[in-house]
Amino acid sequence: HTEITNQHTSFIIQKTATFVKQTLQNAESGHDWWHILRVWNNAKQIAQTEEVDLLVVELAALLHDIADSKFHNGDEEIGSKTAGDFLKSIEVDAEVIGHVQQIIRNMSFKSSFGEATFSSEEMKVVQDADRLDAIGAIGIARAFTYGGFKNREMYNPEIEPNFNLTKEAYKNSTAPTINHFYEKLLLLKDRMNTKTAPKIASQRHQFMELYLEQFAAEWNGIK
Ligand code: ADP
Ligand code: NI
Repeated sequence: HTEITNQHTSFIIQKTATFVKQTLQNAESGHDWWHILRVWNNAKQIAQTEEVDLLVVELAALLHDIADSKFHNGDEEIGSKTAGDFLKSIEVDAEVIGHVQQIIRNMSFKSSFGEATFSSEEMKVVQDADRLDAIGAIGIARAFTYGGFKNREMYNPEIEPNFNLTKEAYKNSTAPTINHFYEKLLLLKDRMNTKTAPKIASQRHQFMELYLEQFAAEWNGIK
């Protein structure tokens, strides 16, 4: 019986991974399949030291960026709807689907500005996994990729970081990419929810600080 359940679980995960990879084929490179693959791997690693339903964790990691509202006229429900429709089509348990949808709906950093209405151990794992991919060397690369995609300046010493961004302001920000480090990326290491993620985060955080120091030194013509 367990054997059959395991086979069924890995069938569901494989089907989902294939669906996500296909759907994100033309995604911008900060949010592409490779981001999903890294988050999926992070999530599996973090889950090893947590008591969680691994199926929910893996499905939510795979589907968490299936349709980002930023690219769909701010429609906040599109991701969970797309995920739900797909999971239904491969006959996943209704309860698992509901949980995965809740995670997708509530996961973004913006939701953690007081708007999250749901939390679970599984969600914490996926959220940490996603946040880890926003920091460190990869986080830096993703930030500049996103900034380029949005035609942002890389840095402008005349524009100060804004530490009190509301959800709307955050979305519509036209600030230089370096500001994003101070407004978001450097805050992430203290927002980790699980046991394993803070250890990984702290090393990636240090690397970002070193990067910013070097950036400033070069900007000012010192190095
Ligand atoms: P995710 O959906 O993966 O949690 P976001 O959609 O908030 O994250 O952002 C995706 C990537 O784009 C992240 O690496 C993030 O740092 C970067 N990003 C988001 N907003 C900005 C911004 N204003 N400037 C630079 N990078 C940004
Ligand atoms: Ni993501």
